[in-house]
Amino acid sequence: MEMVKALLDGSKKVVVLTGAGVSAESGVPTFRGRDGLWKTHRPEDLARPDAFAMNPELVWEFYNWRRDLVGKCEPNPAHLALAEMERHIPNFLLITQNVDGLHAAAGSRKYLEMHGSLWQLKCTKCTHARDDRSDLPPMPECPVCGHLLRPGVVWFGEPLIPGVLKLAIAQISSADVFISVGTSNLVQPAASFYQLAREHGAVTVEVNLEPTANTGFMDFAMHGKAGEILPELVTGLSE
Ligand code: OAD
Repeated sequence: MEMVKALLDGSKKVVVLTGAGVSAESGVPTFRGRDGLWKTHRPEDLARPDAFAMNPELVWEFYNWRRDLVGKCEPNPAHLALAEMERHIPNFLLITQNVDGLHAAAGSRKYLEMHGSLWQLKCTKCTHARDDRSDLPPMPECPVCGHLLRPGVVWFGEPLIPGVLKLAIAQISSADVFISVGTSNLVQPAASFYQLAREHGAVTVEVNLEPTANTGFMDFAMHGKAGEILPELVTGLSE
């Protein structure tokens, strides 16, 4: 802990990658692991464009359920610590795979939502897109063209939002420190970000409840709850 704190204190540029584990203590289900969403729901039925084309009602039911669940969740000390870290590091970027919006709710400003947002809606036909946290009908329609809306998230088999990967790569390639928090590191491209960071000379740190596929390649691995480790990490960071 002390070595990582000292490292952060001396860093000019830090990139943090987060996954579902950072929101677990807020009550948002993770995807894998014992109580993970993908234990009881099949991603191929719910999180793929072809699944939506075949059964949009089922996919919307899943996303409306998640919007309802996540809408009741509050940021936890891990989200707050990352918002605090941003205020101390001159050049900081948070890249999240999460779609719950809890980093923004915690006060983070410099973040990229690489898998989109549960709170965004996009038309399946025209360019209409909007942020909307209201309760939605089972099959919400576009107010412009009347076609079906879809959740503004990135599904398996879809490319990332244009520009997002390019920006992430540029920032990771010039970071002093790369920290991965609460991700199983099983979904690309995020799972390989640490390699890019290492290749460009960054020190790599993992914060996770348990070891992941990447643990052995990290310079530092801190295992425990993100909501306990991160607040300690930012305590006493200089301005
Ligand atoms: P996973 O569910 O795969 O992994 C969550 C990780 O968080 C696991 O390694 C847990 O051990 C860890 N964890 C759980 N509670 C924690 C806590 N309190 N503190 C620290 N760590 C904790 O979630 P992701 O890696 O985010 O994509 O999954 C990546 C992507 O796969 C998601 O964005 C989603 C999913 O399918 C799409 O839907 C496209």
